[in-house]
Amino acid sequence: MSKEAKLELDGKVYPLPTVEGSEGEKAVDISSLRANTGYITLDDGYGNTGSCVSKVTFIDGDKGILRYRGIPIEELAEKSNFIETGYLIIYGKLPNRAQLKRFSDLLTDNQFLHEDMKFHFEGFPMGAHPMAILSAMINAASCFDERLMRWKWGETRDFDVYVARLISQVRTIAAYSYRKSRGLPLIYPKKAYKYTANFLHMLFSTPYEDFELKPEVVKALDLIFLLHADHEQNCSTSTVRMVASSQANLFASCAAGVCALWGPLHGGANQAVIEMLEEIHREGDDGSKFIAAAKDKNSGRKLMGFGHRVYKNYDPRAKIIKKACDDVLSKLHINDPLLDIAKHLEAAVLKDPYFIERKLYPNVDFYSGIIMRALGIPVEMFTVIFAIGRMPGWIANYKEIMEEPKGRIYRPRQIYTGRTLNHYAPLAGRK
Ligand code: SDX
Repeated sequence: MSKEAKLELDGKVYPLPTVEGSEGEKAVDISSLRANTGYITLDDGYGNTGSCVSKVTFIDGDKGILRYRGIPIEELAEKSNFIETGYLIIYGKLPNRAQLKRFSDLLTDNQFLHEDMKFHFEGFPMGAHPMAILSAMINAASCFDERLMRWKWGETRDFDVYVARLISQVRTIAAYSYRKSRGLPLIYPKKAYKYTANFLHMLFSTPYEDFELKPEVVKALDLIFLLHADHEQNCSTSTVRMVASSQANLFASCAAGVCALWGPLHGGANQAVIEMLEEIHREGDDGSKFIAAAKDKNSGRKLMGFGHRVYKNYDPRAKIIKKACDDVLSKLHINDPLLDIAKHLEAAVLKDPYFIERKLYPNVDFYSGIIMRALGIPVEMFTVIFAIGRMPGWIANYKEIMEEPKGRIYRPRQIYTGRTLNHYAPLAGRK
């Protein structure tokens, strides 16, 4: 029997059931609150509100713990790769040899876009942001599959194909949007290349010669994808669940996730961090100007790459990426002044009472851009890289909603604070 909470309202006491998760997280179930009391709850930014139960990812923000299907991110980062981890996140367990081969074959078989998609790329102006292109082209890609357009909610027959197609084509679309933005000829994927190597090939090869796929470069980018693969109910994943709850198809729901991820407070932070570090470098500042601005409420500035709604400790992904930064840059013999600036900034912030009091630590976006710069990825593509990495997490959350027996549409309530009843006034009489 679960513990009960008691809510006293207007002289009456209402029992409310509680829920406890497999890691001891506790919640008060308020599903019956409005019907029984006429009250709803109000929670700005959903900081105290669980929208769902989920089996995909566990985060302990105080201890800096992140696990995909129970496996610590540190183990996966060291021993696994993006596609194997993506399968784990989506299907709930590490694949056996046959399952991994089938998944890999599905990704290969579904990596080409319909040739007519090229006309959509032609329609974008040169300076179009790759995240705008990505969200639009994910929906456009779905239009070329009649069966997907006729897909009915809950149909599982072709779902694995749609999963593989989305994961595979999001990479092809991203590479094409980069090539298009530079007026370069599109480079087609190669059957022989695995996921991340193929992405680098489509980004950087020329019609005359293939891009040199240095193992340390492929591994570093694969690690970036893996570390971004899921993160429970963040802004973009909650958006995917919101759209999925209306029974929209997988592509439409994940295209909405791309739009939510684009914001600088979320996935757009990796681009904003580099722009911040470049400004510090350009001005020869030691970062103290930015730190002061970030502490000044009137500046409207935040220290990009710091802070997190859940982590009140070091983001475990940031730790792994920070170490990978040193490894990759030394292997590639790159000396990036922005890495030194980032480390100095981190050291200064972690000693500053303003950040200590608010438990603001580096998050996944603080160092990731420095690795992507070292790999030659342009800054406007950083959030696209995040979106490619997050696709398995969005798909896994979509699948959870689809498999829910009840499957109710997400429809939060509100407290109205606008004008009370008033009436139409003819134009002549208005002030
Ligand atoms: C991601 O949710 C996820 O899981 C996201 C993510 C994922 O994998 O999906 O982890 C990816 O989005 C990482 C976050 C990337 N964004 C940034 O780096 C942008 C900078 N960070 C902040 O905007 C902020 O920390 C957020 C958006 C990340 C979190 O915002 P919250 O939880 O709403 O925190 P808050 O604004 O309530 O902050 C509490 C206090 C406030 O000060 P007071 O009002 O208490 O005086 O901390 C301050 C904030 O002003 N604060 C910052 C700050 N972050 C919070 N002050 C300066 N610089 C910052 N970066």
